[in-house]
Amino acid sequence: EAAMEYQTRCPLLEVQGIPLLKPIVAHWERVERFRAEPGDLLIATYPKAGTTWTQEIVDLLLNHNDFDKSKRAPTHERMPFLEMTSPNPTLSGITKLETMDPPRVIKTHLPIQLVPTTFWEAGCKVIYMARNPKDNVVSYFHFDRMNLVQPVPGPWHQYLDKFMKGQLGWGSWYDHVKGYWRERKKKNILYLFFEDMKENPHQEVVRIAHFLGQNLSKTLIDEVVQKTTFVTMRDNPMANYSSVPNTIFDRRVSEFMRKGEVGDWQNHFSAEQNTIFEEHYRKIMEDEPIPFRFLI
Ligand code: A3P
Repeated sequence: EAAMEYQTRCPLLEVQGIPLLKPIVAHWERVERFRAEPGDLLIATYPKAGTTWTQEIVDLLLNHNDFDKSKRAPTHERMPFLEMTSPNPTLSGITKLETMDPPRVIKTHLPIQLVPTTFWEAGCKVIYMARNPKDNVVSYFHFDRMNLVQPVPGPWHQYLDKFMKGQLGWGSWYDHVKGYWRERKKKNILYLFFEDMKENPHQEVVRIAHFLGQNLSKTLIDEVVQKTTFVTMRDNPMANYSSVPNTIFDRRVSEFMRKGEVGDWQNHFSAEQNTIFEEHYRKIMEDEPIPFRFLI
């Protein structure tokens, strides 16, 4: 029965008003019970904002650019997904974390108010990666088409509407990016943008290294950049989620490493959708102007 739960797409239920996959909600008390320790590092993102990319950079930096070490296991085993539960123990982040000794690098998509408070009590560092909402929703749409655990995305126009209303898994993109933005100084959060990473990866990797307390040579930083390009990660079985079975990720529909570009939204938004989106974006982001860029 536990396995069946994952053979089909899961409905969304709510925790404190945030829609999350049913199995996450069913195991929520385990997430609440999780104790972060000083030295644990949290990588937080809205889904499809560049989580895996950030994780790979961080893991390489922490291993002093030892590529073999970073290939010791797939992303989700090296840096477990805090709130994810699955009957498959390698995919169940919380199960993995319950047996892992600190210091750990932990992935989450939770909005800041749902992050277990022990992360703040322990003074953990947080790296938040944000991506412009147009590319973010396009990436999420293709992901939901291929990830057979996620709810059915339906047609694009409906999906876009749900994104704007905050009805997709992990809730409102708008609240998510604002939540971490507001707390970034108080809470030791390094706030990064996907577009900056694309435009100037060297500079952004330096920022991440400094945040982790490292002062690395230019050569070493360049090597980390080379090992975390879209193409290198796409071809790296330990960074491209190829170990996730086809019964979960249907690669006939879309690849996990899909395009990795800025501006792909232009191939999806109609002129009318773009106008409506921009008007809505302007209003909803008015109280917290975050410098998102839609093209580079
Ligand atoms: P696209 O669907 O636009 O291609 P996440 O890791 O949060 O699930 O985000 C996945 C998105 O990040 C996908 O976007 C994926 O292609 C992109 N991505 C992953 N690694 C990347 C890299 N090294 N460079 C650029 N984009 C990358």
